[in-house]
Amino acid sequence: MSLPQTPPSLPQYLQEIELSQETRDLISKLPTEKALISGNLHQYKGFWFPTRYIQGVLASQKHFQAQDTDILLATTPKSGTTWLKAILFALVNRVHYHPDPQNQDHPLLTNNSHALVPSFESNLYFKKQIPDLTSYAPPRLFSAHLPLESLPQSVKESACKVVYLCRNPKDIIVSLWHYTNRLRHRSMGTNSLEEVFQYFCRGVSPFGPFWDHVSGYWKGSLERPETVFFIKYEEMKEQPGLHLRRLAEFLGCPFSPEEEAQGVVDNILRLCSFENLSNLDVNKTGKLSKTGVEHSAFFRRGEAGDWRNCLTAEMVEQLDRITEEKLQGSGLKF
Ligand code: A3P
Repeated sequence: MSLPQTPPSLPQYLQEIELSQETRDLISKLPTEKALISGNLHQYKGFWFPTRYIQGVLASQKHFQAQDTDILLATTPKSGTTWLKAILFALVNRVHYHPDPQNQDHPLLTNNSHALVPSFESNLYFKKQIPDLTSYAPPRLFSAHLPLESLPQSVKESACKVVYLCRNPKDIIVSLWHYTNRLRHRSMGTNSLEEVFQYFCRGVSPFGPFWDHVSGYWKGSLERPETVFFIKYEEMKEQPGLHLRRLAEFLGCPFSPEEEAQGVVDNILRLCSFENLSNLDVNKTGKLSKTGVEHSAFFRRGEAGDWRNCLTAEMVEQLDRITEEKLQGSGLKF
Protein backbone atom coordinates (compact mmCIF):
# COMPACT_ATOMS: atom_id res chain seq x y z
CA MET A 1 0.00 0.00 0.00
CA SER A 2 1.45 3.37 -0.93
CA LEU A 3 1.09 6.27 1.50
CA PRO A 4 -0.42 9.55 0.29
CA GLN A 5 2.34 11.95 -0.67
CA THR A 6 2.39 15.36 0.99
CA PRO A 7 3.70 18.00 -1.40
CA PRO A 8 7.11 19.33 -0.31
CA SER A 9 6.56 22.71 1.31
CA LEU A 10 7.78 25.76 -0.55
CA PRO A 11 10.87 27.54 0.76
CA GLN A 12 9.89 30.59 2.80
CA TYR A 13 10.96 33.03 0.10
CA LEU A 14 8.38 31.55 -2.29
CA GLN A 15 5.53 31.52 0.20
CA GLU A 16 3.03 34.30 0.09
CA ILE A 17 3.55 36.85 2.80
CA GLU A 18 0.82 38.13 5.08
CA LEU A 19 0.26 41.82 4.51
CA SER A 20 -1.43 44.21 6.91
CA GLN A 21 -4.55 46.00 5.69
CA GLU A 22 -2.57 49.26 5.73
CA THR A 23 0.08 47.77 3.41
CA ARG A 24 -2.55 46.32 1.11
CA ASP A 25 -4.27 49.69 0.86
CA LEU A 26 -0.96 51.35 0.11
CA ILE A 27 0.19 48.93 -2.57
CA SER A 28 -3.22 48.85 -4.24
CA LYS A 29 -2.58 52.46 -5.26
CA LEU A 30 0.99 51.92 -6.46
CA PRO A 31 2.22 51.00 -9.95
CA THR A 32 2.95 47.26 -9.84
CA GLU A 33 5.06 44.89 -11.95
CA LYS A 34 5.77 41.17 -11.67
CA ALA A 35 8.96 40.38 -9.77
CA LEU A 36 11.59 38.00 -11.15
CA ILE A 37 11.34 35.35 -8.42
CA SER A 38 7.79 35.60 -7.03
CA GLY A 39 5.33 38.29 -5.98
CA ASN A 40 5.48 41.81 -7.34
CA LEU A 41 7.44 45.01 -7.26
CA HIS A 42 5.69 48.22 -6.22
CA GLN A 43 6.84 51.67 -7.20
CA TYR A 44 6.86 53.73 -4.03
CA LYS A 45 8.30 57.25 -4.03
CA GLY A 46 10.17 56.54 -7.26
CA PHE A 47 11.71 53.16 -6.35
CA TRP A 48 10.60 49.57 -6.92
CA PHE A 49 10.16 47.55 -3.71
CA PRO A 50 9.43 43.80 -3.63
CA THR A 51 6.09 42.90 -1.99
CA ARG A 52 7.78 40.76 0.65
CA TYR A 53 10.07 43.57 1.84
CA ILE A 54 7.83 46.61 1.65
CA GLN A 55 6.50 46.21 5.21
CA GLY A 56 10.05 45.91 6.51
CA VAL A 57 11.04 49.03 4.59
CA LEU A 58 8.19 51.02 6.13
CA ALA A 59 8.79 49.61 9.63
CA SER A 60 12.52 50.44 9.50
CA GLN A 61 11.73 53.99 8.40
CA LYS A 62 9.32 54.39 11.28
CA HIS A 63 11.17 52.67 14.10
CA PHE A 64 14.93 52.55 13.51
CA GLN A 65 16.80 54.88 15.82
CA ALA A 66 20.33 55.43 14.58
CA GLN A 67 23.25 55.93 16.94
CA ASP A 68 26.24 58.06 15.97
CA THR A 69 28.48 54.99 16.18
CA ASP A 70 26.33 52.87 13.81
CA ILE A 71 27.65 51.65 10.48
CA LEU A 72 25.15 50.99 7.71
CA LEU A 73 26.09 49.15 4.54
CA ALA A 74 23.83 50.20 1.66
CA THR A 75 23.83 48.35 -1.66
CA THR A 76 21.75 47.47 -4.66
CA PRO A 77 21.09 43.70 -4.75
CA LYS A 78 23.85 41.64 -6.42
CA SER A 79 26.53 44.30 -5.88
CA GLY A 80 28.61 42.14 -3.54
CA THR A 81 26.71 42.82 -0.30
CA THR A 82 27.69 39.41 1.13
CA TRP A 83 31.38 40.20 0.57
CA LEU A 84 31.37 43.70 1.99
CA LYS A 85 29.39 42.58 5.03
CA ALA A 86 32.15 40.07 5.77
CA ILE A 87 34.85 42.71 5.27
CA LEU A 88 33.10 45.25 7.51
CA PHE A 89 32.53 42.69 10.24
CA ALA A 90 36.14 41.48 10.14
CA LEU A 91 37.47 45.06 10.03
CA VAL A 92 35.40 46.54 12.83
CA ASN A 93 35.78 43.53 15.15
CA ARG A 94 39.44 42.77 14.44
CA VAL A 95 40.58 43.44 18.02
CA HIS A 96 38.08 40.92 19.48
CA TYR A 97 38.31 38.45 16.64
CA HIS A 98 41.75 38.23 15.11
CA PRO A 99 41.44 37.64 11.38
CA ASP A 100 44.66 35.60 11.17
CA PRO A 101 44.48 32.09 9.70
CA GLN A 102 45.36 30.51 13.08
CA ASN A 103 42.14 31.81 14.64
CA GLN A 104 39.74 28.94 14.05
CA ASP A 105 37.09 30.66 16.22
CA HIS A 106 36.45 33.62 13.95
CA PRO A 107 32.64 34.12 13.66
CA LEU A 108 32.90 34.34 9.87
CA LEU A 109 34.04 30.71 9.76
CA THR A 110 30.74 29.49 11.20
CA ASN A 111 28.26 32.25 10.30
CA ASN A 112 27.17 33.67 6.99
CA SER A 113 27.86 37.41 6.85
CA HIS A 114 24.12 38.15 6.47
CA ALA A 115 23.61 36.78 9.99
CA LEU A 116 26.44 38.91 11.41
CA VAL A 117 25.33 42.10 9.65
CA PRO A 118 21.53 41.95 9.56
CA SER A 119 19.53 43.72 6.91
CA PHE A 120 16.69 46.11 7.74
CA GLU A 121 14.16 44.88 5.22
CA SER A 122 14.90 41.14 5.00
CA ASN A 123 15.85 40.46 8.60
CA LEU A 124 15.46 43.00 11.42
CA TYR A 125 12.20 44.62 10.30
CA PHE A 126 11.08 41.77 8.01
CA LYS A 127 7.28 41.39 8.05
CA LYS A 128 6.98 44.63 10.02
CA GLN A 129 8.49 43.29 13.23
CA ILE A 130 10.16 45.71 15.64
CA PRO A 131 13.45 44.24 16.81
CA ASP A 132 14.99 44.73 20.23
CA LEU A 133 18.43 46.13 19.45
CA THR A 134 19.50 46.78 23.03
CA SER A 135 21.89 43.83 23.09
CA TYR A 136 23.86 45.14 20.07
CA ALA A 137 27.16 46.61 21.24
CA PRO A 138 28.56 49.62 19.40
CA PRO A 139 29.60 49.94 16.69
CA ARG A 140 26.40 48.30 15.44
CA LEU A 141 26.59 46.98 11.89
CA PHE A 142 23.47 46.87 9.70
CA SER A 143 22.64 46.77 6.02
CA ALA A 144 19.87 47.94 3.73
CA HIS A 145 18.99 48.00 0.04
CA LEU A 146 17.06 51.22 0.63
CA PRO A 147 17.85 54.19 -1.58
CA LEU A 148 19.37 57.14 0.29
CA GLU A 149 16.13 59.08 0.00
CA SER A 150 14.25 56.27 1.82
CA LEU A 151 16.66 55.74 4.71
CA PRO A 152 15.17 56.23 8.17
CA GLN A 153 15.27 59.92 9.12
CA SER A 154 17.43 59.15 12.16
CA VAL A 155 20.19 57.79 9.88
CA LYS A 156 20.24 61.02 7.92
CA GLU A 157 20.24 63.16 11.07
CA SER A 158 22.91 61.23 13.01
CA ALA A 159 26.66 60.91 12.50
CA CYS A 160 26.06 57.25 11.61
CA LYS A 161 28.46 56.15 8.85
CA VAL A 162 27.01 54.88 5.59
CA VAL A 163 29.14 52.66 3.35
CA TYR A 164 27.67 52.37 -0.15
CA LEU A 165 28.77 49.57 -2.44
CA CYS A 166 27.73 49.48 -6.10
CA ARG A 167 28.76 47.46 -9.11
CA ASN A 168 28.90 47.70 -12.87
CA PRO A 169 25.25 47.29 -13.96
CA LYS A 170 26.27 44.78 -16.65
CA ASP A 171 27.56 42.39 -14.01
CA ILE A 172 24.55 43.08 -11.77
CA ILE A 173 22.22 42.01 -14.59
CA VAL A 174 24.12 38.77 -15.15
CA SER A 175 24.26 38.06 -11.41
CA LEU A 176 20.56 38.88 -10.99
CA TRP A 177 19.65 36.60 -13.90
CA HIS A 178 21.46 33.62 -12.37
CA TYR A 179 20.28 34.38 -8.83
CA THR A 180 16.60 34.80 -9.67
CA ASN A 181 16.55 31.66 -11.82
CA ARG A 182 18.15 29.72 -9.02
CA LEU A 183 15.44 30.85 -6.58
CA ARG A 184 12.42 30.51 -8.87
CA HIS A 185 10.26 27.48 -8.38
CA ARG A 186 10.85 24.79 -11.00
CA SER A 187 7.22 24.96 -12.11
CA MET A 188 7.66 28.62 -13.10
CA GLY A 189 10.45 27.94 -15.57
CA THR A 190 13.35 30.32 -15.98
CA ASN A 191 13.67 33.97 -16.99
CA SER A 192 15.67 34.57 -20.15
CA LEU A 193 18.63 36.93 -19.98
CA GLU A 194 16.81 39.17 -22.46
CA GLU A 195 13.81 39.47 -20.09
CA VAL A 196 15.97 40.34 -17.10
CA PHE A 197 17.97 42.77 -19.20
CA GLN A 198 14.93 44.67 -20.52
CA TYR A 199 13.33 44.77 -17.08
CA PHE A 200 16.52 46.23 -15.59
CA CYS A 201 16.85 48.77 -18.40
CA ARG A 202 13.30 49.98 -17.74
CA GLY A 203 14.39 50.68 -14.17
CA VAL A 204 12.16 47.92 -12.82
CA SER A 205 14.67 46.02 -10.72
CA PRO A 206 14.47 45.35 -6.98
CA PHE A 207 15.14 48.66 -5.17
CA GLY A 208 15.82 50.22 -8.59
CA PRO A 209 16.00 52.11 -10.86
CA PHE A 210 19.67 51.23 -10.47
CA TRP A 211 20.88 54.63 -11.77
CA ASP A 212 18.71 56.60 -9.31
CA HIS A 213 19.92 54.41 -6.46
CA VAL A 214 23.62 54.95 -7.22
CA SER A 215 23.15 58.65 -8.04
CA GLY A 216 21.53 59.30 -4.66
CA TYR A 217 24.46 57.83 -2.73
CA TRP A 218 27.04 59.30 -5.12
CA LYS A 219 25.68 62.79 -4.46
CA GLY A 220 25.46 62.01 -0.75
CA SER A 221 29.13 61.01 -0.70
CA LEU A 222 30.14 64.25 -2.43
CA GLU A 223 28.03 66.41 -0.14
CA ARG A 224 28.84 64.58 3.10
CA PRO A 225 32.10 62.66 2.60
CA GLU A 226 32.55 62.28 6.36
CA THR A 227 29.36 60.18 6.63
CA VAL A 228 28.88 58.56 3.20
CA PHE A 229 31.63 56.36 1.69
CA PHE A 230 31.14 55.32 -1.94
CA ILE A 231 32.92 52.29 -3.35
CA LYS A 232 32.59 50.09 -6.44
CA TYR A 233 32.90 46.29 -6.42
CA GLU A 234 35.40 46.53 -9.28
CA GLU A 235 37.66 48.93 -7.33
CA MET A 236 37.59 46.64 -4.34
CA LYS A 237 38.53 43.69 -6.55
CA GLU A 238 41.35 45.55 -8.23
CA GLN A 239 43.02 47.19 -5.24
CA PRO A 240 41.55 45.54 -2.16
CA GLY A 241 44.32 46.59 0.23
CA LEU A 242 44.13 50.24 -0.76
CA HIS A 243 40.34 50.40 -0.36
CA LEU A 244 40.27 48.41 2.86
CA ARG A 245 42.71 50.94 4.34
CA ARG A 246 40.52 53.82 3.07
CA LEU A 247 37.48 52.17 4.60
CA ALA A 248 39.26 51.75 7.94
CA GLU A 249 40.21 55.46 7.89
CA PHE A 250 36.65 56.46 7.05
CA LEU A 251 35.27 54.37 9.91
CA GLY A 252 37.74 55.91 12.33
CA CYS A 253 39.69 52.68 12.91
CA PRO A 254 42.83 53.00 10.73
CA PHE A 255 45.38 50.20 10.75
CA SER A 256 48.25 50.90 13.15
CA PRO A 257 51.90 50.42 12.10
CA GLU A 258 51.94 47.28 14.28
CA GLU A 259 48.88 45.88 12.49
CA GLU A 260 50.46 46.69 9.14
CA ALA A 261 53.60 44.85 10.19
CA GLN A 262 51.53 41.85 11.32
CA GLY A 263 49.75 41.63 7.96
CA VAL A 264 46.24 42.30 9.35
CA VAL A 265 45.05 43.85 6.06
CA ASP A 266 45.98 40.75 4.08
CA ASN A 267 44.51 38.48 6.75
CA ILE A 268 41.13 40.24 6.52
CA LEU A 269 41.17 40.04 2.73
CA ARG A 270 42.11 36.35 2.80
CA LEU A 271 39.44 35.55 5.38
CA CYS A 272 36.77 37.34 3.30
CA SER A 273 37.91 36.11 -0.09
CA PHE A 274 35.44 34.39 -2.38
CA GLU A 275 37.56 31.20 -2.30
CA ASN A 276 37.60 31.06 1.48
CA LEU A 277 33.99 32.02 2.24
CA SER A 278 32.35 30.04 -0.55
CA ASN A 279 34.09 26.84 0.59
CA LEU A 280 33.00 27.01 4.21
CA ASP A 281 30.40 24.49 5.35
CA VAL A 282 28.13 27.22 6.69
CA ASN A 283 28.01 28.83 3.25
CA LYS A 284 27.59 25.56 1.38
CA THR A 285 24.73 24.22 3.47
CA GLY A 286 23.10 26.98 5.57
CA LYS A 287 20.06 29.18 4.91
CA LEU A 288 19.07 32.72 5.88
CA SER A 289 16.98 32.60 9.04
CA LYS A 290 14.06 34.81 7.97
CA THR A 291 13.70 34.08 4.27
CA GLY A 292 15.15 30.59 3.89
CA VAL A 293 17.40 31.55 0.97
CA GLU A 294 20.36 29.16 0.78
CA HIS A 295 23.66 30.84 1.65
CA SER A 296 25.26 29.20 -1.38
CA ALA A 297 23.00 31.32 -3.66
CA PHE A 298 25.10 34.36 -2.69
CA PHE A 299 28.31 32.81 -4.06
CA ARG A 300 28.51 32.22 -7.80
CA ARG A 301 31.70 33.41 -9.57
CA GLY A 302 32.69 36.47 -7.59
CA GLU A 303 34.47 38.15 -10.51
CA ALA A 304 34.34 41.47 -12.29
CA GLY A 305 33.51 41.34 -16.01
CA ASP A 306 31.49 38.11 -16.36
CA TRP A 307 29.10 40.20 -18.51
CA ARG A 308 31.59 39.76 -21.36
CA ASN A 309 30.63 36.07 -21.48
CA CYS A 310 26.88 36.70 -21.50
CA LEU A 311 25.67 40.04 -22.91
CA THR A 312 25.38 40.63 -26.65
CA ALA A 313 27.00 43.64 -28.36
CA GLU A 314 23.49 45.18 -28.75
CA MET A 315 22.78 44.78 -25.04
CA VAL A 316 26.10 46.39 -24.13
CA GLU A 317 25.41 49.29 -26.46
CA GLN A 318 21.89 49.82 -25.11
CA LEU A 319 22.99 49.68 -21.48
CA ASP A 320 26.00 51.95 -22.03
CA ARG A 321 23.71 54.50 -23.68
CA ILE A 322 21.26 54.46 -20.76
CA THR A 323 24.04 54.65 -18.18
CA GLU A 324 25.65 57.58 -19.94
CA GLU A 325 22.33 59.45 -20.22
CA LYS A 326 21.31 58.82 -16.62
CA LEU A 327 24.65 59.66 -15.04
CA GLN A 328 25.52 62.53 -17.36
CA GLY A 329 27.19 65.41 -15.55
CA SER A 330 27.44 63.53 -12.25
CA GLY A 331 31.10 62.56 -12.61
CA LEU A 332 30.16 58.93 -11.93
CA LYS A 333 31.10 56.34 -14.55
CA PHE A 334 30.99 52.56 -14.93
P1 A3P B 1 28.25 36.88 -9.20
O1 A3P B 1 26.86 36.38 -9.38
O2 A3P B 1 28.68 37.80 -10.30
O3 A3P B 1 29.24 35.80 -8.95
P2 A3P B 1 25.07 40.15 -3.23
O4 A3P B 1 25.85 39.67 -2.04
O5 A3P B 1 24.88 41.63 -3.22
O6 A3P B 1 23.82 39.39 -3.41
O7 A3P B 1 25.99 39.90 -4.51
C1 A3P B 1 26.29 38.61 -4.95
C2 A3P B 1 27.48 38.69 -5.86
O8 A3P B 1 28.67 38.88 -5.08
C3 A3P B 1 27.68 37.40 -6.63
O9 A3P B 1 28.27 37.79 -7.87
C4 A3P B 1 28.67 36.66 -5.73
O10 A3P B 1 29.36 35.62 -6.36
C5 A3P B 1 29.58 37.80 -5.32
N1 A3P B 1 30.35 37.50 -4.09
C6 A3P B 1 29.92 36.85 -2.99
N2 A3P B 1 30.90 36.75 -2.10
C7 A3P B 1 32.00 37.33 -2.65
C8 A3P B 1 33.35 37.51 -2.21
N3 A3P B 1 33.75 37.07 -1.04
N4 A3P B 1 34.19 38.16 -3.03
C9 A3P B 1 33.78 38.61 -4.24
N5 A3P B 1 32.53 38.47 -4.71
C10 A3P B 1 31.64 37.84 -3.93
